[in-house]
Amino acid sequence: MPRGKFITLEGGEGVGKTTNLVFIENYLKLHCIPVIVTREPGGTLLAEKLRQLLLDKESEAISEHAELLLIFAARAQHIQHVIEPALASGTWVLCDRFTDATFAYQGGGRNMKNSTIKWLENLVQGSLRPDLTLLLDAPIEIGLERAKSRSNLDRFESEKIQFFEQVRRAYLLQAELNPNRIKVIKANQSLIDVENEIINVIGNFLR
Ligand code: TMP
Repeated sequence: MPRGKFITLEGGEGVGKTTNLVFIENYLKLHCIPVIVTREPGGTLLAEKLRQLLLDKESEAISEHAELLLIFAARAQHIQHVIEPALASGTWVLCDRFTDATFAYQGGGRNMKNSTIKWLENLVQGSLRPDLTLLLDAPIEIGLERAKSRSNLDRFESEKIQFFEQVRRAYLLQAELNPNRIKVIKANQSLIDVENEIINVIGNFLR
């Protein structure tokens, strides 16, 4: 049984990750690829509890290091209990956010050192990296409007505009540094155009 592939979906707030995640899942299933869909932070019982702590706006101020370590703690659980077993059994893993989000939010948004994040990435992930990452990119105003109209804002969504500008910039820098793995998809176009771009990227990947 060949090892499964690890695909991640990334992007700032309100860029349409949820809708497109379902689209990608269906597209893979249509091609008879066994796939599980999961998310970060989260994906296991403990990791989902850590997610709640991370998103809770009412909590005491969370230090940057505590935030970073909670994210990697959740990731360690997720890798050990969900991602690795699936990949090893030949199942593909489609994950809503992974470590590129840490480089974007904690690195870009919070100005934490990339070298610190890389150190934790190596510690927690060993050699595990996504095989393909789709980065949905849109001007932040568009995404934030969508996010606001949806629900009560969580701890990250309540950040200032500058934070999201830095997140977006850091995501695009990650894409520039990893052009073979990270494919940027313009999210501020019609859904059908976004879907066509996704088909293009995944189609190339499958070939
Ligand atoms: P979601 O809104 O995509 O479900 O993600 C939850 C939030 O967690 C989102 O605002 C981004 C944040 N996040 C980080 O700050 N660092 C990370 O490494 C991950 C995976 C998510």
